[in-house]
Amino acid sequence: MTTTGTAIQGYAQLDDRELDERIRAAREALGERVVILGHHYQRDEVFRHADYTGDSLKLSRQAAQTSAEYIVFCGVHFMAEVADILSSRGQISILPDLGAGCSMADMADLEKVEDAWQELATVLEPDEQVTPVTYINSAADLKAFCGRHGGIVCTSTNAPRVLEWAFGQRDKVLFFPDQHLGRNTGYNMGIPLDKMVVWDFGKPLGGLTKEQIREAKLILWNGFCSVHQMFRPEHIDQYKGRYPDTRVISHPECRFEVCQKSDYVGSTEYILNTVSAAEPGSRWLVGTELNMVNRLREQLQPRDIVVQFMSPMVCMCSTMFRIDPQHLLQTLESLVAGEVVNRIEVPADDAAEARVALQRMFEVSA
Ligand code: 13P
Ligand code: SF4
Repeated sequence: MTTTGTAIQGYAQLDDRELDERIRAAREALGERVVILGHHYQRDEVFRHADYTGDSLKLSRQAAQTSAEYIVFCGVHFMAEVADILSSRGQISILPDLGAGCSMADMADLEKVEDAWQELATVLEPDEQVTPVTYINSAADLKAFCGRHGGIVCTSTNAPRVLEWAFGQRDKVLFFPDQHLGRNTGYNMGIPLDKMVVWDFGKPLGGLTKEQIREAKLILWNGFCSVHQMFRPEHIDQYKGRYPDTRVISHPECRFEVCQKSDYVGSTEYILNTVSAAEPGSRWLVGTELNMVNRLREQLQPRDIVVQFMSPMVCMCSTMFRIDPQHLLQTLESLVAGEVVNRIEVPADDAAEARVALQRMFEVSA
């Protein structure tokens, strides 16, 4: 039996210890029938139950490889969609709380992207001149759009290789939804800023002139992650003013000026590995989500590595935070009882075309 409800009556009153014990018990009862995947931004009470942890690329590879009947994705909606697309027939992808979306992914939808493609066709031949590239933080139907228009998916890890591939296919790229990942990657590949234009999806022709579109190499969708916009170049200047030896590391969803002032830029897994491999006594200013940075600080404190969150404001991904131990427990206990809750199922047509774009990504980033 499959239901999609999100009610968690009976779980809200449980204390932390009881939640933890019952999650472990349900996990054990399910054995190899279930795999729990946990993104780095998950809160500790959930993260500790994950069989595999990682960034979007690593977790999508895990989802493609597992033979477990149930893939419980402690992350956000697009991640569970990717798990469903890449898993085999008979496997079930589950997001413990269906409200866990990604606000950046929501900034591009199929209707707007198809409108943009048609508008571009008044200036160029998009299917001959423009490769569509979608960040993995996007809905499945946008991945499908890329699949059927000769395009591809990228993650924060493989964006440089993917863009190289995309420019090898056609002269220009339409990159959505995150303008910052697109700009930061394009600039590092040597594309000047004036050849990267922002497509404002609220305006006719993206707010651009025909001349600007003809001259552009990279057309960047006007999307962004509000969590990563909290980090500012002045935060780096202020902290380095006090501690000049600080090394700065940021996620490529941060604005251009922040990435330019950073010593290292990369995915969440890259940030984890780089800071974890640092020598004792080093000091790091980290520009990514708070749950991950707090965990890193606690893990590395005993090795005398100082980890400081980049923003003076508390900013975390509120949608990632929706996955709490109550929802994880409800999901697992329902499975033990033979009931599937909060299943994520991508329509077969979309899944087939999205798989094409994801497979291109895996080939390019192998
Ligand atoms: P990573 O793939 O680097 O984990 O990024 C996912 C994400 O949503 C960052 O905001
Ligand atoms: Fe989406 Fe930003 Fe949250 Fe990442 S941190 S899942 S991009 S809203």
